[in-house]
Amino acid sequence: MRIAMIGTGYVGLVSGACFADFGHEVTCVDKDKAKIDALGRGEMPIYEPGLDDLVAANVKAGRLKFTTALPPAVKAADAVFIAVGTPSRRGDGHADLTFVHEAAREIAQALDGFTVVITKSTVPVGTGDEVERIIKETRPDADCAVVSNPEFLREGAAIRDFKHPDRIVVGTEDARAREVMREVYRPLYLNRAPVLFTERRTAELIKYAANAFLATKITFINEIADLAEKVGADVQEIARGIGLDNRIGAKFLHAGPGFGGSCFPKDTLALLKTGQDNGAPLRVVEAVVTVNDARKRAMARKVAAALGGDVRGKTVAVLGLTFKPNTDDMREAPSIPLITALQDMGAKVHVYDPAGMEQAKAYIGNVEFCPDAYSCAKGASALVIVTEWEEFRALDFDRLKATMAQPVLVDLRNIYPPEEVARAGFVYESVGRARK
Ligand SMILES: NC(=O)c1ccc[n+]([C@@H]2O[C@H](COP(=O)([O-])OP(=O)(O)OC[C@H]3O[C@@H](n4cnc5c(N)ncnc54)[C@H](O)[C@@H]3O)[C@@H](O)[C@H]2O)c1
Repeated sequence: MRIAMIGTGYVGLVSGACFADFGHEVTCVDKDKAKIDALGRGEMPIYEPGLDDLVAANVKAGRLKFTTALPPAVKAADAVFIAVGTPSRRGDGHADLTFVHEAAREIAQALDGFTVVITKSTVPVGTGDEVERIIKETRPDADCAVVSNPEFLREGAAIRDFKHPDRIVVGTEDARAREVMREVYRPLYLNRAPVLFTERRTAELIKYAANAFLATKITFINEIADLAEKVGADVQEIARGIGLDNRIGAKFLHAGPGFGGSCFPKDTLALLKTGQDNGAPLRVVEAVVTVNDARKRAMARKVAAALGGDVRGKTVAVLGLTFKPNTDDMREAPSIPLITALQDMGAKVHVYDPAGMEQAKAYIGNVEFCPDAYSCAKGASALVIVTEWEEFRALDFDRLKATMAQPVLVDLRNIYPPEEVARAGFVYESVGRARK
């Protein structure tokens, strides 16, 4: 299959490289010349484990190309994927479909022969209809089918997720498109990955329902964590105690500073808007959004409480800035409102992240960027773990204690056993467990 991937970001680049690895001929297109130039030099524009090797191998094999020129890539393609961003629209929380509509128009102009146009971006119900309308309006003669194929990969484990998906969802009522999609995903099909063929609108809604459900699970355990703190229970054990029930499942039950990232915040908001517009308000998701928003600043109050209620004039060291480990993605990271709130309370903030420092500079200011965890902790009255990178799991407490102004550890990811930290002479505050 010849594939054009429009949008070479976290999803487009990973999907494009994986499709090439399946043996397809893939051209990744992006408007961002700097991104395409970097890829041309063999440099990855994002941090994703294993991506550099996968891209290099497939470029070398001649199956993966990068360009800013959309028309030739689309003209030659059997399948054109739209993997552009769909951020929250400023002001109202609807998904901003500007990039999707623009891509649809550009694709339409270049279509040549029967082509399947597939929306991989996360888009509200009915977007497939609109993409189809735009294509018909721009090119009434075009022979194409518009398919929804939402992506479920997780940053940080994106290649594995793409190659071993829990399921592939394909929304189309067109028989020819179904055949092309079978061919595109043939290697996964042969590996018996479940492929769910649905109507297009159903596929679009599956993606939002999945993300909203996961966000709900996280928010649920976060509220249980708050209660556990009040009543002297341990949320980790509660999560295990309920997660062993197959009907509940153990995943996404880690209490923490609230969900962030490039997907859950914007997707929950967009789903709320779709619900309201269609007279079917989603009250559970509304509560999830409200509770999660309030939680972000509450985490700063937790840090202040560990310091006796006042952080003014004190230095707080923040470990981990990205919204989760193994990515450099800073979009809607919980570290951002936490740092702002600490600054509002008068704290001086040191930060360190293994991969997100460059990206973080666009999101946070007035902080000291430090080269590692120990220099970050220097002179700090509290060390706060916000993102659970591997390298924060075995910190040298003696070394930290020697360099900090006060031995206080606020672990917003519960990565340490409380007794171990207390034995090391630290005041230890975590989430949903009694303070040690
Ligand atoms: N990041 C994730 O983990 C993830 C997971 C599943 C689904 N998604 C969804 O996938 C979509 C893309 O997300 P992302 O994180 O990869 O976004 P991103 O911002 O990393 O990448 C989007 C890319 O599209 C490019 N672009 C925009 N308009 C273009 C056009 N007309 N022609 C060519 N290129 C164009 C941009 O320059 C950018 O490089 C979103 O809808 C998102 O919700 C993301």
